[in-house]
Amino acid sequence: MSDQLKRQAALHALDEIRDGMIVGLGTGSTAAHFIRELGRVRLQVAGIPTSEESRRLAEETGIRLTSFEENPRVDVTVDGADEVSTQLDLLKGLGAALVREKIVAQASERVVIIVDESKLVDRLGQKNVIPIEVIPFAVPRVLLLLRELGGAARVRQRDGRSFVSDNGNSIVDWNHGMIDDPAKLEKQLKSLTGVVDSGIFANVAHCVIVAGSQGVRKLQRA
Ligand code: A5P
Repeated sequence: MSDQLKRQAALHALDEIRDGMIVGLGTGSTAAHFIRELGRVRLQVAGIPTSEESRRLAEETGIRLTSFEENPRVDVTVDGADEVSTQLDLLKGLGAALVREKIVAQASERVVIIVDESKLVDRLGQKNVIPIEVIPFAVPRVLLLLRELGGAARVRQRDGRSFVSDNGNSIVDWNHGMIDDPAKLEKQLKSLTGVVDSGIFANVAHCVIVAGSQGVRKLQRA
């Protein structure tokens, strides 16, 4: 069911795309639906992937790819999210692509987020940890600082080892709990030397397409 809803949201995002656009390609299972559908409709676009996984998928589906060297500006980015608040702030990065996702989103004229309704929350941090990408050398220091701020922090593992991001860094998952002021906490985390960025995306989404059992709706930033 949830996978069908993700596909519904992805199909609606195609309305945002026109021939000639530079399109940011998000990461995760919902963004993967979008990439497959975009490949299928054969629009004349060029994509900038936000992860190696999305790059591979875009190549398989025949989407022409470009880079910031050729195109430093992106017309529209379509990406998923782990949580969407009532203010349309986002928590992202369970898929570990948060840094490239944020870089591509910041380069974009318009950011469209696609989710199924299970991702909607009153306040960020309600269900998920905050993923934080950290330069490996700084990990012990950042863990200490996060624990001092409050809440358990652990290095993400895969197959019994520290997970390594596409950028060669570690991911620290911080169990902060409810976030009162996402923009403030995003800035505070960014100010810790060794932190590359966090999965808090405050004031980034222009529009969120939500697919639910009652249909698809589009939430616009006020
Ligand atoms: C990837 O790093 C994440 O930000 C994803 O966008 C997010 O985890 C959503 O993934 P799903 O669409 O698989 O739920």
